[in-house]
Amino acid sequence: MKTTLTYLFILAGAGLTVLCGKEEQPEVSVETPSHFAALDDVRLLATGLLELGQSLRDFVHKTKGQINDIFQKLNIFGRSFDQLSVLAREIKEEEEELKKTAVMLQANNEEIRGISVNIGSKVESIMLEKSSLRSKVEGLEEKLRSMSQSLLTGDQVRDINGLKGVINNQEQSITELLKAVREQSDQLNYQRVKIKSLEEKLTASTLAQDTSGRMPESFSSDTPTLSPYLASDSSKKTADMDLPSDCSEVFNRGEKISRVYAIRPNGSEPFKVFCDMTADHGATVIQRRRDGSVNFDQSWEKYENGFGDFHGEFWLGLSKIHSLVAQGNSVLHIHLEDWKHNKRFIEYTCDLDGPESNYTLHLKLLSGDLSDPMKNHTGMMFSTKDRDNNKHRHSNCAHNYTGGWWFNSCGDTNLNGRYFRMRHKGRSDRRRGIHLKPGRKASYSLRFTQISVFPFNTSSQSSETGGFLANNHL
Ligand SMILES: *[C@@H]1O[C@H](CO)[C@@H](O)[C@H](O)[C@H]1NC(C)=O
Ligand SMILES: *[C@@H]1O[C@H](CO)[C@@H](O)[C@H](O)[C@H]1NC(C)=O
Ligand SMILES: *[C@@H]1O[C@H](CO)[C@@H](O)[C@H](O)[C@H]1NC(C)=O
Ligand SMILES: *[C@@H]1O[C@H](CO)[C@@H](O)[C@H](O)[C@H]1NC(C)=O
Ligand SMILES: *[C@@H]1O[C@H](CO)[C@@H](O)[C@H](O)[C@H]1NC(C)=O
Repeated sequence: MKTTLTYLFILAGAGLTVLCGKEEQPEVSVETPSHFAALDDVRLLATGLLELGQSLRDFVHKTKGQINDIFQKLNIFGRSFDQLSVLAREIKEEEEELKKTAVMLQANNEEIRGISVNIGSKVESIMLEKSSLRSKVEGLEEKLRSMSQSLLTGDQVRDINGLKGVINNQEQSITELLKAVREQSDQLNYQRVKIKSLEEKLTASTLAQDTSGRMPESFSSDTPTLSPYLASDSSKKTADMDLPSDCSEVFNRGEKISRVYAIRPNGSEPFKVFCDMTADHGATVIQRRRDGSVNFDQSWEKYENGFGDFHGEFWLGLSKIHSLVAQGNSVLHIHLEDWKHNKRFIEYTCDLDGPESNYTLHLKLLSGDLSDPMKNHTGMMFSTKDRDNNKHRHSNCAHNYTGGWWFNSCGDTNLNGRYFRMRHKGRSDRRRGIHLKPGRKASYSLRFTQISVFPFNTSSQSSETGGFLANNHL
């Protein structure tokens, strides 16, 4: 500051000397007072210059700061730009990857569909061949019969019999082949469904999707025996993630047809169940009796894992029932029909303990149109002929009366008893059959029972049962 000031004064002084030196010679006497005026002017000029210099300095300072600032911002921008372009590149790569996967999945699906159709037509042609073979065999047999009336040598008869054997073998192997092909086809269908669910997860994909969100056909196929759980290989896991937790959820997802579906209750392996759909909710069927086609006098192991046929008589299995009920808020619905075709129902809130407590049953009456036949069964462990857990140590109800049940005392209600076709049976036979024991009244034989569970909130509080019952029992 000080140096600048001094410098400016020197500058001003120099300017003055030059000015004075120049104008002193022509007008010395006339301009004498102007010496002072000029000095004032110089001082003014100096002050102006000083101010100018200061503001110039300030300006340079400020500008420098601003330029620094701008450089900083430019730097930041440059860096952000770099980062952005890296990100953009990454996003683009991911998108490419996804697109590729989607295209691949689509192609796989198409291929599988093609194979499915192919198998279908092959099965048809094999069927045709089989029936033509059969008619040939019949023709041959016919011929054989007519020929046997005329004279035939022993050799000829032997030849013809041999031929017949060959043809029978042929037919047998065709049947086996058909079975294998059908299994293959089911497998393919399952794969297709898996791919479809993966495809739906690829939201970035712009490819058109099949809008039919139906459950896989392979799940609806007949189930002659109840497998413990769906076979679980690692590749299946992704497709299983989206399985509904019970039939109520299946219903809520828009499936209104009573049939077999795959479900996966919370914390359980996936398995198949029969869903009974009414107009307003879906119930998971855990037991059905209707014609005596399945033997219910089974071991603990069978009662634990389930047995029978979903489209006829079956017991879902204690471990699966437990995983269903363990989800909470369960209602147990029992539908009954007697030999006069009277229909009754009764509903309980239901809890079922696990295997460590031998599947102890806890029921609380909700509603129904018959007197409580399960009053003595709440708090009971499950018993079978090979594991007796009833209250009376000296008698084995499951053994004497057949069927696994939550026995308290023998002769109690047992919906897993023997199926007696005849209506008029003696008391002791009734007690061995499927029967109700409402209080002190005589036991009551039944021709149809179905037990199902569903969450409390969707309870219809009515005796209505689904299309399956209506179609099969009216
Ligand atoms: C499943 O069970 C676990 C453990 O019992 C619980 O924490 C979880 O909330 C349950 N999930 C659902 C969807 O009910
Ligand atoms: C479960 O049943 C077995 C066999 O009948 C028995 O030994 C065991 O004590 C039972 N468990 C409980 C908790 O009562
Ligand atoms: C069950 O059968 C055993 C013999 O098999 C018999 O001793 C027992 O008294 C029977 N119990 C009932 C309740 O019939
Ligand atoms: C329930 O048990 C009590 C006593 O244990 C018995 O008197 C009653 O008859 C039983 N009820 C039925 C329906 O079996
Ligand atoms: C029914 O569901 C609602 C939530 O959807 C819940 O608040 C209520 O407690 C449930 N009622 C019963 C009885 O479980």
